[in-house]
Amino acid sequence: MSKSIGILTAGGDSPGLNAAIRGIGKAAQYSYNMQVIGFKDGFRGLMENRIVRLDGNALSGILTIGGTLLGTSRDKPHKMPVGGKLLDMTDAMVDVYNKHHLDALVCLGGGGTQKNAFRLAEKGLNIITLPKTIDNDVAMTDVTFGFDTALGIATEAIDRLHSTAHSHHRIIVVEIMGHNAGWLALGAGIAGGADVILIPEIPYDVKSVAESVLRRSRAGKNFSIVAVAEGAVSQEDAKELNEYEKLKDSAKNKEDKEKVKAKLDHFLAKHEGNTLRLSKKLEELTRLETRVTILGYLQRGGAPSAADRLLATKLGTACANFIHKDKYKIMVAVRGDGVEAVPLEKVVGQKKLIPLDHSWIESAKSIGISLGD
Ligand code: F6P
Repeated sequence: MSKSIGILTAGGDSPGLNAAIRGIGKAAQYSYNMQVIGFKDGFRGLMENRIVRLDGNALSGILTIGGTLLGTSRDKPHKMPVGGKLLDMTDAMVDVYNKHHLDALVCLGGGGTQKNAFRLAEKGLNIITLPKTIDNDVAMTDVTFGFDTALGIATEAIDRLHSTAHSHHRIIVVEIMGHNAGWLALGAGIAGGADVILIPEIPYDVKSVAESVLRRSRAGKNFSIVAVAEGAVSQEDAKELNEYEKLKDSAKNKEDKEKVKAKLDHFLAKHEGNTLRLSKKLEELTRLETRVTILGYLQRGGAPSAADRLLATKLGTACANFIHKDKYKIMVAVRGDGVEAVPLEKVVGQKKLIPLDHSWIESAKSIGISLGD
């Protein structure tokens, strides 16, 4: 009997999602004669049984389109806002899966989605995931789809910011996404020729950043581009954060945990607007005119790059093949030129940050880019 599969996309939208849905769906139907449905808006649509048929022409003409035709949300199965309360709705999702007599559910997403999908796998569902995010921070895969497109957009933005920076002799501080990882900022910073790159993996000293800019200025270069990852922190803030992490680890009861969480939330709220504060401080220390550009959602929008289309198609078709072979509770990861089935328990709760001995860090330093340390 032919298999029936469901697909959902969760977490932030990302270029390549439609290409991946198309890859899974077409391979599932054409190579293995499976039935394919999609659930709207991530885990919420699964809970509410809102489905989209992905047969016939539904998968045509979507390869190049940004976002996700299924819609997405950041809702978590075990903490779903329902009627003003946060409820554990995993059992309701299991019921919907069974109601459709599904043989597998494919969840496309980043780190959070891997965790949420794992929760459903623990309930006995045949879960398989794909690593998607512009942040490139999913553990156990060489790369995630969406990253290459965002890298191209952020690089082009830095290219364009050079025009104003050199014409007006300004410092331009450009904020780049990436959550708590610096892949996008470091990659685009190097590719776009930024002079300073600040990433969460290397806490910065604002005086050292100002000194790098002033050194350029003394050498006759009267503009600078500072690429800052949204999660970059100063050395003082990094110390504070470390303290909270330690407190979190040592918190024994619910009350302690809530206190640490409140402190962390307060810290994160304070961290909002960090790039603007950094820019003001740089202006104060260097006395050079400084401006900020926050790239924001521009980095996630529009058509996926050729590399992301290829990657999403490769992962999608491999996913259909794994389902055909009844291989579940796995993430379809990228390993070298090929793909690999990684057990989900090895992925969840991990984050792939930039190792300090990574070749990009080495290259940046050896061409004189300041990393603010
Ligand atoms: O994970 C992708 C990402 O774009 C991060 O880079 C960013 O921190 C976050 O999503 C923004 O989330 P939201 O879409 O909820 O604003």
